[in-house]
Amino acid sequence: MTPARYSIPSILLHWTMALAIALAWGGAQLAEALARGPSRTMVFGVHALMGLAVLALLLPRLLARLLGAAPRAAPRAPMWEQRLGAAAHLLLYALMILLPLTGLLTALTGRAPFDLAGLATLPNALVATGLRGTVKGAHEVLANVMLGAVALHVVAVLWHAFVRRDGVAGRMIPWRTRTA
Ligand code: HEM
Ligand code: HEM
Repeated sequence: MTPARYSIPSILLHWTMALAIALAWGGAQLAEALARGPSRTMVFGVHALMGLAVLALLLPRLLARLLGAAPRAAPRAPMWEQRLGAAAHLLLYALMILLPLTGLLTALTGRAPFDLAGLATLPNALVATGLRGTVKGAHEVLANVMLGAVALHVVAVLWHAFVRRDGVAGRMIPWRTRTA
């Protein structure tokens, strides 16, 4: 049977990861605004921890999504809209892997070991590859693509909530069970 909303593990992971991504993004903006020094190092450390949390939660999320029941693609939307939605979700999943991975590579190729907010240290084991500039550039580009994809995602949710009014926007909210 097709459920009216996502499973509770899927919903919890969706919102925990959305929060971690928002904090990673905000942390990077704050760190960039700070002068080099202990505060900047600490904020970048928290930034990386948030990003690593996204990477760690992705496998449980994919398992929850693939093993649990999930609602059907927006039922009353035209085919092109359903395809765009599926493609956008795929892009979001791809970014949730590639963005933390390029961030990790940026840390591993740094000139000095990377301090994870005093909790641990990532060695600069890949510094000899000389790829720091490339992976950092890729990390920045992907962060901007993520910003655009999330903006599109939120616009789509608002579209479903206020224009189509088809119940899709409530499917990531535990107490909303309206079927479309
Ligand atoms: C959802 C996850 C992540 C997001 C949204 C994100 C976003 C960003 C952004 C926007 C920047 C600034 C780029 C610029 O304009 O210079 C940045 C830089 C950076 N990020 Fe991430 N990042 C994520 C995950 C990670 C992870 C997992 C790590 C490491 C384990 C990491 C390490 C770094 C490093 C080392 C820099 C560059 C620091 C410097 O300029 O010295 N990031 N990230
Ligand atoms: C970093 C932020 C976010 C990411 C990476 C993200 C990612 C995703 C992904 C990948 C899905 C598809 C789930 C699947 O079918 O497997 C999804 C669904 C959903 N998201 Fe987000 N999301 C984010 C933020 C938000 C925000 C801020 C909202 C609310 C405005 C939201 C509302 C929803 C809703 C309502 C669905 C269900 C759509 C449907 O039933 O087809 N998300 N999200």
